[in-house]
Amino acid sequence: MRKGLFITVEGTDGSGKTTQIKLMEEFLKSAGNEVVLSREPGGTQISEMIRDLILDPKNTDISPLTEMMLYAAARAQHVFQVIKPALDSGKCVICDRFVDSSFAYQGCGRGVDLKTVADVNRAAVDGIVPDITFFLDIDPHLAIQRRIKTTGADRIEQEKMDFHTRVYEGYRKMALLYPDRIKTIDASKSIEEISSQIKLYLTEII
Ligand code: TYD
Repeated sequence: MRKGLFITVEGTDGSGKTTQIKLMEEFLKSAGNEVVLSREPGGTQISEMIRDLILDPKNTDISPLTEMMLYAAARAQHVFQVIKPALDSGKCVICDRFVDSSFAYQGCGRGVDLKTVADVNRAAVDGIVPDITFFLDIDPHLAIQRRIKTTGADRIEQEKMDFHTRVYEGYRKMALLYPDRIKTIDASKSIEEISSQIKLYLTEII
């Protein structure tokens, strides 16, 4: 029986998820919750191996469909080994990305048929749906600039602007389709402002 709380955080690359996840963890812990932090692709040994395979720059010839299925395979193991057991034992799980990433990146970004993404992922998530999802909404141009400032220039990321724009539009569409679950947060604001908006939502739900 599921008793915990499942929170996912989504956004384009450079939207500031990591900082907000840390702040959410502190907030939930200070309210007396047991918190499990995880990320996708990854979160288990097998899923991290799949992550290395997908994100290895040498593997340029992975087809969009193969990529989508590998993300789903990593997810299936993650749900089975980490997410479900943690929720069953009443813990709060905060996951950096989940199935919405596959709709945005593989579906809207790479053009994999959205119904196929949905069908494959329905099997992978085994009935697990986030209680709340925070979409950190930032114009992808701004996000890339912010990332370049902190991690140095990344020519490839700049070249992939069209792709990031499609991913971003995908997220926005999903947020409109599922307004009860997906909360859009203006991620161009300061760290403190973003965090207090997230805390308001969390206070409502816990
Ligand atoms: P990562 O370096 O963790 O990026 P970020 O810090 O932005 O989350 O790499 C994860 C990459 O995997 C990121 O570019 C998004 C992508 N991804 C998908 O394309 N589909 C998915 O289902 C998931 C979970 C991630």
